[in-house]
Amino acid sequence: MHLSSKHLLGIRELLKGDIQLILDTATQFKDVLQRPIKKVPSLRDITIVNLFYENSTRTRISFELAEKRLSADTINFAASSSSVSKGETLLDTVNNILSMKVDMVVMRHSATGAPHFLAKHIPAAIVNAGDGINEHPTQALLDALSIREKLGTLEGKKVAIIGDIMHSRVAMSNIYLLKKMGAEVTLAGPPTLIPKYIRESFDVNVTYNVEEALQWCDVANVLRIQLERQNQVLFSSLREYNQAYGITRKLLDRIQKDILIMHPGPINRGVELDSDVADCGQSLILNQVENGVAVRMAVLYLLSGRKELSV
Ligand code: CP
Repeated sequence: MHLSSKHLLGIRELLKGDIQLILDTATQFKDVLQRPIKKVPSLRDITIVNLFYENSTRTRISFELAEKRLSADTINFAASSSSVSKGETLLDTVNNILSMKVDMVVMRHSATGAPHFLAKHIPAAIVNAGDGINEHPTQALLDALSIREKLGTLEGKKVAIIGDIMHSRVAMSNIYLLKKMGAEVTLAGPPTLIPKYIRESFDVNVTYNVEEALQWCDVANVLRIQLERQNQVLFSSLREYNQAYGITRKLLDRIQKDILIMHPGPINRGVELDSDVADCGQSLILNQVENGVAVRMAVLYLLSGRKELSV
């Protein structure tokens, strides 16, 4: 029971069987998380560092909790309060940490390809917790688990990914995953936030009409507008973005169809998603966060090389 890769760098590198195995293992770990004692000894004596060069709430807490639930020893590293500010390189930082007998590295970095670079230079298993605008593999896996729980399968399901596709590592990982698992994908949003090459390169549909995407889909995965990654004006104002591309109650009522609403967080309420949509009965947003812990337990366990899973 192991993955085809030593690392989890992206969904791009995974086989369909790897994704299936992670989701099935996560389902087993979800059972553990329902028990009064939410802990198994699976990763006892394994030490994991959570190396965060970029801010995070959900991903960092979720990885730390997953490690604790698996009985691993955990170290948290935030670049902002480390010797990175004195000029230490990524490789020197990681090699120093590994010399203290650390076995696995979970890493978030603003530079696309940072975990891929590290994987070429260090012996430890690496889990990508988000690299620049490239991939956020565990987010796509927890999104997939959340859809599978509600709809039974991903095969043949219609998923609309809506908003700032251009700057979104969540979109990229979701596109890879959904296509590998046999789902149909439509990307929707303003033309300035959807790369021109994406339709042909990834065999997805593209529309600039959000209502059309909502009419078509079973699931709408709504993305955050990533102003911190936009160094030019790509739409007129946040208010106008909300009017043209935001998911509002009025829009949902108009399509007269029960679709599932997802968002990776953090939400810009009143911009890409209105509050009464984010908090409505069709919203899976907190289910996604809950599933993140089980998915990350599965990924860490499967990459650890431990033989027997006793849950
Ligand atoms: N979804 C997600 O990656 O959230 P954080 O940035 O809070 O980790």
